[in-house]
Amino acid sequence: MILIDGAGLAEDILQEIRQEVDLMVSNGKKRPHLAAVLIGDNPASLSYVTNKVKSCETAGFKSTLIKRDGNFSENELAQLIEELNNDSEIDGYIVQLPLPRHIDADKILLLIDPKKDVDGFHPLNFGRMAQGLPAFLPATPSGILQMLERYKIETDGKHCVVIGRSNIVGNPMSILMARKGYPGNCTVTIVHSRTHNIDEIVRQADIVIAAIGIPKFVTSEMVKDGAVVIDVGINRIADTSTKSGFRLVGDVDFENVAPKCSFITPVPKGVGPMTVCALMINTLKASKSEIY
Ligand SMILES: NC(=O)c1ccc[n+]([C@@H]2O[C@H](COP(=O)([O-])OP(=O)(O)OC[C@H]3O[C@@H](n4cnc5c(N)ncnc54)[C@H](OP(=O)(O)O)[C@@H]3O)[C@@H](O)[C@H]2O)c1
Repeated sequence: MILIDGAGLAEDILQEIRQEVDLMVSNGKKRPHLAAVLIGDNPASLSYVTNKVKSCETAGFKSTLIKRDGNFSENELAQLIEELNNDSEIDGYIVQLPLPRHIDADKILLLIDPKKDVDGFHPLNFGRMAQGLPAFLPATPSGILQMLERYKIETDGKHCVVIGRSNIVGNPMSILMARKGYPGNCTVTIVHSRTHNIDEIVRQADIVIAAIGIPKFVTSEMVKDGAVVIDVGINRIADTSTKSGFRLVGDVDFENVAPKCSFITPVPKGVGPMTVCALMINTLKASKSEIY
């Protein structure tokens, strides 16, 4: 079994980006600049955004964190987005999800200029991705593709089962694993809460990608010997032995599943850091006008 070191891999890629950025700057180009909008005081969101800002530093990017309190209105956010769209200093930006209930996230995401949509959530980028055109790929699936590639994991002709069909993970992941190319060329099955016989379907998978949000959903009985298991889930479970009173676990019962796998990602330090890394790759592309 090979444990995929997402944190180490992300660090290597950030250093590669840094070298490229230093060269760009020494040639008189502007540093890539990422902005992040955080509304409200959700602790998990704050920790994700803080990580993104830290990664900007490592990659040699400029970053701007725009924090507003939970009462910030939808109109005010729309106005802020217009300003960011028109700010030539900023190459790309993200609006950290989830947004407070009084703000319609779908409406807000539509307002983001697709050229600056480094999270890859705008329908134009999604559509371009689905058609195999140059696009900002959604960060989590894109980070997973990087992992598969760097670990030289064979995907051609493999059966990939994606568990979950969200617009930010499961759905785009299934499209990318089925696309022509590497990583890709898989036969893909996507399963969700209405699927019958999930266990049986997952047992047929050469590659399992779990993005459900239920701790230890994928058990050892559901995984065939030699499978590749990518655990996207980030779930907080109570743990009195830690200072915070909780710890993070994935959607996979790691302890029991790992011995059966050819490759597996841990939680934490698996997919999470690669997601941030993919965001940095998109920001670099935005600053070089590589997509649009
Ligand atoms: N590592 C990272 O960087 C990263 C990034 C994003 C998300 N995440 C984590 O990944 C997990 C999933 O995130 P998400 O945003 O995709 O979640 P989501 O929007 O809540 O989607 C969850 C998906 O799981 C399916 N599901 C729920 N219960 C199920 C069940 N009992 N059996 C089969 N399918 C079931 C849902 O099916 P229906 O569509 O039928 O409801 C849905 O498609 C969460 O733990 C999240 O924190 C991690």
